[in-house]
Amino acid sequence: MKTQTMTDWKIKLNEVGFVHLPSQTEFELSQILKQLGNVINETDVIANSESKSLVTSDKFLDFHTDNHLAKYIIWYCHKPAQEGGYSILCDGEQVYNLLNEDEKAQLTKIHVYEHKMFPENRNSNPIVRKIDGNRRFYYSFWLAREKYRQLPVFKKWRELIQNSNYTKLRLEKSDILIVDNHRIFHGRTEIKGERFLKRYWLNPDFKATRTFYNQNS
Ligand SMILES: [Fe+2]
Repeated sequence: MKTQTMTDWKIKLNEVGFVHLPSQTEFELSQILKQLGNVINETDVIANSESKSLVTSDKFLDFHTDNHLAKYIIWYCHKPAQEGGYSILCDGEQVYNLLNEDEKAQLTKIHVYEHKMFPENRNSNPIVRKIDGNRRFYYSFWLAREKYRQLPVFKKWRELIQNSNYTKLRLEKSDILIVDNHRIFHGRTEIKGERFLKRYWLNPDFKATRTFYNQNS
């Protein structure tokens, strides 16, 4: 690493749930991928105004988590946006702590749809649940059913996320961004021009047997 040692980035990732590493070589990327576990999916994320998919369009993309089988998401920037394309990152833990106990309990019963990319995927996941003593978040506004969106607790949750003290950063060429997908909600602002990122989903504990199809959200 040029600016940070391996240990530094791992500590930061554990503490705040994400880390931005500027100017990394492909070799450094491969070392990081190795350290964080199995790559279960690899996707070219190319911003394209013709695209009908949310992920590969050039429009604003609201806060969400990716497939819950991805513990970490790593993006490697091959070509930055000409303008815009800021990554936005909201800490689920911070937002969750603003809820009262009753609201926290309600979130465990609100399920959000999940695309079946892996045989292990269920139809949906709760917004929050506890696994091995750790909270795990799963959230996307557009994948929640209308009846859930109407609930006061869901509206409050969404408002807290939108109005949170979220991080906004821009990926330049050869930058790496790593997020804990079970904690951090990510999105991005509108992109002007072309942008090309390589995205990796990782899970240290899960070996993907096969992927059903290359769906991106
Ligand atoms: Fe995403």
